[in-house]
Amino acid sequence: MSASVIKVVVVSGSLRAPSRTHGLLQALVERLQARLPNLDVHWVRIAALADVLSGSLERDSASAALQPHLQAIEQADLLLVGSPVYRASYTGLFKHLFDLVDHQSLKGVPVVLAATGGSERHALMIDHQLRPLFAFFQAHTLPYGLYASVEAFDQHRLVEPAQYERIERVIDTVNTFFQIPVATAA
Ligand SMILES: Cc1cc2nc3c(=O)[nH]c(=O)nc-3n(C[C@H](O)[C@H](O)[C@H](O)COP(=O)(O)O)c2cc1C
Repeated sequence: MSASVIKVVVVSGSLRAPSRTHGLLQALVERLQARLPNLDVHWVRIAALADVLSGSLERDSASAALQPHLQAIEQADLLLVGSPVYRASYTGLFKHLFDLVDHQSLKGVPVVLAATGGSERHALMIDHQLRPLFAFFQAHTLPYGLYASVEAFDQHRLVEPAQYERIERVIDTVNTFFQIPVATAA
């Protein structure tokens, strides 16, 4: 792998599969890959890790199945994190995952924040819950978040054009770190 490969880690906090949060993050990853081909993408799907996560109460004794995911997060060049809104916050297991992440490892790492909810009412979960969590890690949260409610999806696939436009603007801000070409208007 060349030295210029960018290690992207995508964390989906949904407890379900299929998942709208996964659909939102998938759309973001696809557009990112279209604009920046040299990505190494690692997915952390909480729905698939629920058992090992809930059985891993401390980092040192965390399940062997979880360790590669924790290491990937700690070594990421770029984090894309998303969670469904649960009771006006991220899911409990999403928080538990980050409770196991080395608190020094995300300093200065760019992080895109994303969430899905049942309605638009909890869009500020991104700024009131996710952003402070990553401020704790001294990560560099990007200014635009991605929030999509039920109407933006066909089943679990993101279909709303405005969401795709927003994704392009988010990727423009990633440009500050990785020199991605700015998209021209369609
Ligand atoms: C336990 C639970 C709590 C929820 N709490 C909220 C909430 O506070 N605000 C909201 O907008 N949606 C809430 N929802 C709806 C989910 O956020 C929404 O359906 C989301 O898109 C599901 O994402 P997923 O398909 O990735 O799991 C809740 C859903 C569940 C199951």
